[in-house]
Amino acid sequence: MGAAPAFGALREHMAVHIPDDLIEAYRKAERVVVLTGAGVSAESGVPTFREAQTGLWAQYDPRELATPQAFARNPRLVWEWYAWRRSLIQKARPNLAHYALVDLEQATPHFLLVTQNIDGFHWLAGSRDMVELHGNIARTKCFDEGHIVGWWPETDDVPPRCPHCGGLLRPDVVWFGEGIPDHALRAAFDAAASCDLFVSIGTSAMVQPAAQLPLIAKRMGAKVLEINPQQTAISLVADWALQGTAVEVLPALVRALGFPTNAIDGAQQSSTNDE
Ligand code: APR
Repeated sequence: MGAAPAFGALREHMAVHIPDDLIEAYRKAERVVVLTGAGVSAESGVPTFREAQTGLWAQYDPRELATPQAFARNPRLVWEWYAWRRSLIQKARPNLAHYALVDLEQATPHFLLVTQNIDGFHWLAGSRDMVELHGNIARTKCFDEGHIVGWWPETDDVPPRCPHCGGLLRPDVVWFGEGIPDHALRAAFDAAASCDLFVSIGTSAMVQPAAQLPLIAKRMGAKVLEINPQQTAISLVADWALQGTAVEVLPALVRALGFPTNAIDGAQQSSTNDE
C-alpha cells in the first residue's frame, strides 16, 4: 500500500455520474457563475462555518463572535478567535475542488467565481475572475477608519493598534450586520442576473445576500447546478443537485466536459512531489 493519496485522490476517482444534459448545458453556456461556501474548503481540513467549533472555541457560537458588537464588547476575544482560524488556514492548502474551479474558469468564455469564504484558497489555487463577498481573513483593517493596514508595531496590545490613528485593528472580513463591499455585491448580482448556468457549491444557502444569487439566476432563465452532500434550499430549485463532496464532483465534472485539467494535474503532481 503506497502513501495515503493526497487531496482525497481515491475519493475523486469514485464513479461520480455527471448527467448528459448537464454536460450539454455547460458546453452551451456562454456565461457561468459559481458560488462557493465553506464546504469547498472542508476537504482542506478547514471546518465549515456551522460545524461545531473545536477545542477552546467549542463554547462559542460563531454568530456570537463575528459581529461588530462582539468586537466592541470584547475585542481581544474576537481578535484571538480570528487568529486561531487564521492559524488553521495557514496550516491547510487548497484542495482539488479549488483547482478544478481554476480549470473551469480557463475553459469558460465568461466566468465569475463568487465566494463567501474568507480563506483565500481560490486565489491561492489560481482563480482570478472572482469576488470575495465576505472579505479575506489574511487582510487586517482599522476598526475606526476602515482602511487596510499591512503593518503595525509589535506591542503587547491585543488587538494591535492602527499605526495611523491608534484605533483597534480587526480582520478585513464582513461580520453579521455589516454590509458587503459594493463592488463585490454589484459584480455578483449583475453576473447572477445575466448568466446561462449558475453553480452553487458547498454552501448551506442560509446567509443573505449570497443565498439570493441562485434564485435570481433561476428567475432570469439560467439553469442551476448544486454540488453538496446535503440537501439545501437550493436543491429545491436546482436543475441538477449532485449529492457529493466538492472534491468528488468537481474534477469529475471537468473531465466529463472534456476540458483541460492543467490545474488539477499540477496540484496532484505537486502533492506527489511533497510526499
Ligand atoms: N463538499 C461540498 N459541500 C460540503 C462539504 C464538502 N466536502 N462538506 C460540507 N459541505 C456543505 C454542507 O452540507 C453545508 O451545506 O457545505 C455547506 C457549509 O455550510 P455553512 O457551514 O453554513 O457555510 P456557508 O454556507 O459557507 O456559510 C455562509 O455564513 O456564517 C456566514 O460568513 C459566514 O461565509 C459564511 C456564510
